[in-house]
Amino acid sequence: MSYQINVAASDISFDCNDGETVLDAAERAGFALPYSCRKGVCAECQGGVVNADGVTEKALLCCVRPAANMTIAPRKIEKRERIVRKKLDASVFRITQAAPDVTVLQLRLPIGVRAKFRAGQYLQVHLDEETVRNYSMANPPHQSDSVHLHVRHVPGGRFSDGVLKELAVGRKLRVELPYGEFFFRDESEKPVILVATGTGFAPVKSIVEDAIKRKLARPLKLYWGARRRQDLYLAELARKWHDEGHVEFTPVLSDPDDDWTGRTGLVHRAVLADHPSLAEHQVYACGNPAMTSAARDEFTRAGLPEDEFFCDAFVQTDALEPAA
Ligand SMILES: Cc1cc2nc3c(=O)[nH]c(=O)nc-3n(C[C@H](O)[C@H](O)[C@H](O)COP(=O)(O)OP(=O)(O)OC[C@H]3O[C@@H](n4cnc5c(N)ncnc54)[C@H](O)[C@@H]3O)c2cc1C
Ligand code: FES
Repeated sequence: MSYQINVAASDISFDCNDGETVLDAAERAGFALPYSCRKGVCAECQGGVVNADGVTEKALLCCVRPAANMTIAPRKIEKRERIVRKKLDASVFRITQAAPDVTVLQLRLPIGVRAKFRAGQYLQVHLDEETVRNYSMANPPHQSDSVHLHVRHVPGGRFSDGVLKELAVGRKLRVELPYGEFFFRDESEKPVILVATGTGFAPVKSIVEDAIKRKLARPLKLYWGARRRQDLYLAELARKWHDEGHVEFTPVLSDPDDDWTGRTGLVHRAVLADHPSLAEHQVYACGNPAMTSAARDEFTRAGLPEDEFFCDAFVQTDALEPAA
């Protein structure tokens, strides 16, 4: 059984199978809707669903599973080449400790298999049939025989404090990719501001290294926020990009030692202090959900157009899906 999904104020419609989410059905039909976690936590996919009385109610389109024909009013919908995701058994080939609470995990794909993804996207690690965890690719897309992940340790975390500790070189992990609407938009010429907290640096690294490889001329500014200096686990790399003129790098600490002479406070506030108007910018924000949410609100109040703000909030995704 399938239902017809109509998109309000457009001539777009697509079929949705019984039990399928609106987001999955849209992708299957070759349409992109905004999303991040796909689990009903981040609200990136929030849009409208028209009820039987013709009233539009808010709904998370990654969780809505229609039981009848339906009209939806998403924030945005774009025709896109149909996404082909691969599920692969990748082998662990390097594990390094970038900081006391950050592990860099490098996975090599099976021989002859390439990972096709855009800079900024993420993959899902399958822990079992029903449980996945999301991690952003930190390597640029042209390094397509492997994926590099930056994993922050969450005390008691099933993957980051459990599976990860048991991993050894040669062990296999089942991954599925690519996922995510947080990827670098090539079609724009606007100057770019990248804002990260903690391991939100991972997709930012992919974006910057991709821009360097492709010799993109767009100005890039990177603001990386953390509590203490040691939390900026690849600050030397970011400084190197800065010194070579690829990126303007500003580290921002919220709880610095006395000898810190750099910027302090909340990272998104540092962006606002330097850019009282963001009307002509494009912003990519990634990491702590409190940061991405405050950045969206305050940046749009500072003139940033809603559709020039892209984010991945690193929300916990093992929560149950809320009722749609
Ligand atoms: C789109 C996306 C991309 C992501 N990319 C990355 C990435 O590149 N690097 C990365 O380190 N993480 C990333 N995350 C977060 C990651 O998917 C996991 O949620 C996180 O690693 C915790 O998983 P776990 O299995 O270790 O802990 P879980 O077993 O999920 O949680 C264990 C306990 O920790 C708490 N908890 C879980 N997550 C958090 C948190 N973020 N802060 C505070 N408490 C928490 C839970 O409430 C629970 O009590 C991303 C999330 C999303 C949605
Ligand atoms: S994508 Fe639907 S709530 Fe995160």
